[in-house]
Amino acid sequence: MKRLVIGNMKMNLNIEQINEYINSLNSKKNDFIICPSSIYLPFFIKANYVTGIQNIYTLDKGSFTGEISSYQANSIGVKYTICGHSERRKYFNETNEMINLKIKSSISNSLIPILCVGEEKGADLKVVLYNQITQCLKGIKEEIIIAYEPIWAIGTNVIPTNEEIKNAIIYIKNLIKEIYNYNVKVLYGGSVNSSNIESLCEIDVVDGFLVGGSSINSSEFLKIIEVALK
Ligand code: PGA
Repeated sequence: MKRLVIGNMKMNLNIEQINEYINSLNSKKNDFIICPSSIYLPFFIKANYVTGIQNIYTLDKGSFTGEISSYQANSIGVKYTICGHSERRKYFNETNEMINLKIKSSISNSLIPILCVGEEKGADLKVVLYNQITQCLKGIKEEIIIAYEPIWAIGTNVIPTNEEIKNAIIYIKNLIKEIYNYNVKVLYGGSVNSSNIESLCEIDVVDGFLVGGSSINSSEFLKIIEVALK
């Protein structure tokens, strides 16, 4: 199965490190999607990498100092947008309503949205997923990608059991099929690394991985890509 591997580099690396990174992943560049800080996107695109942007604004253009639109991202060759990452929700107060507008903006500018959903430790998983998905996708018929990322698994080195991941992903797939009538691709994200990737690949319903911390180190990321695409 051809799984999707996406690297969310977050706010890391300087330009020298980015240049080294681009060189060292060059032979595998068709096997994954990379989401660096926005200022580095042109370097990856010039080197023919497939890219995603970590965040976009809700509108196409205007007086919004510091923001980047999907209209602009599309114009330089970006293909994907990460929407609703839990760090955006937590540190930048993004709501499901804002994420809904960002997804709409991505779609209208031909970018493929990757919607991140996931619960806090101890929360009612199905209620959280139902609310996030139905509110973020309100009025949206186009196909998107979903990344299931339990908040407590992000950057903690603690991951759910394979069975827990499987159950969450099946719930998401059934929900999307029932309400939106398509077979959605669901990725798992949260402390994916070269030691746990083999075991995570045993979950038959996983369509790929959203990798944060482990995507910053090129050799670690290469190992993950190799196993995930086997
Ligand atoms: P992590 O991050 O792999 O560092 O846990 C995943 C994410 O935030 O997408």
